[in-house]
Amino acid sequence: MQEKCFLCHFEMPDPSRRDQMIAPPFLRVQEHYKPTYPKKDDFIVAVMDIINNPSVDKTLMPGAVKKFNLMPKIVYDQDELRLIVETLYDMDYGDSPKMRMNKLDLTLNNGEKWKLSKKSIGQINEIVANLNSFKATTISDYNKLGKDIFDEAKMIMLDESYTGELWEQIHVFFSGVEDNMHSLISAKSIDKADDELTILKAKFDQFHDYFEQEK
Ligand code: HEC
Repeated sequence: MQEKCFLCHFEMPDPSRRDQMIAPPFLRVQEHYKPTYPKKDDFIVAVMDIINNPSVDKTLMPGAVKKFNLMPKIVYDQDELRLIVETLYDMDYGDSPKMRMNKLDLTLNNGEKWKLSKKSIGQINEIVANLNSFKATTISDYNKLGKDIFDEAKMIMLDESYTGELWEQIHVFFSGVEDNMHSLISAKSIDKADDELTILKAKFDQFHDYFEQEK
């Protein structure tokens, strides 16, 4: 890991070396992958897969892709890579600062809503419609809903035209919902999935308080 990964990744966020950061810290990688793949075997398959074939379609970290560009494709010895990925799963980062997961800390643009393209607003409306019309019979329906809305929301995160403070605000919103989406994707009980669904509806309801379609 030292040799193969830490030349790009830090283990933990380090504010004093922020400007040297060229990839997300491993703590953040773990925070994104573990809620989606709580089982070690699934985690290993998914993480090895994205390392062997980095892709925008499969990323769970669109914020990192946008900020740092896609991880370059590097060919690793697969046994070695498996060990590294197992270590990433097992790593205990103690009580290092967590991402702000459950709070939407959005601000307006000098009292005005932030302007998004028609396409992005359409994507949000589709997510909201999906959430509101959702009728499930099985837990896998919930898991699929999580995946569908994550994929849709990801497109907005990856949109090249958003930069600067506008992108920061989009990122704040996304950071506030991504954990719930990841939990919905991996939920094993309908009770748990229903909780996430309720939270997601409430958070997406707030979207239009801060963003609107450009004229
Ligand atoms: C040459 C630099 C570089 C090296 C070496 C590197 N990474 Fe990355 N990695 C990145 C960048 C940049 C990103 C953020 C963009 C992305 O997610 O593709 C990233 C993202 C990731 C992600 C998240 C992928 C996603 O988008 O969901 C994982 C997992 C990961 N790295 C694991 C590893 C592991 C494990 C190693 C060592 C075997 C490693 N990386 C080596 C640059 C690197």
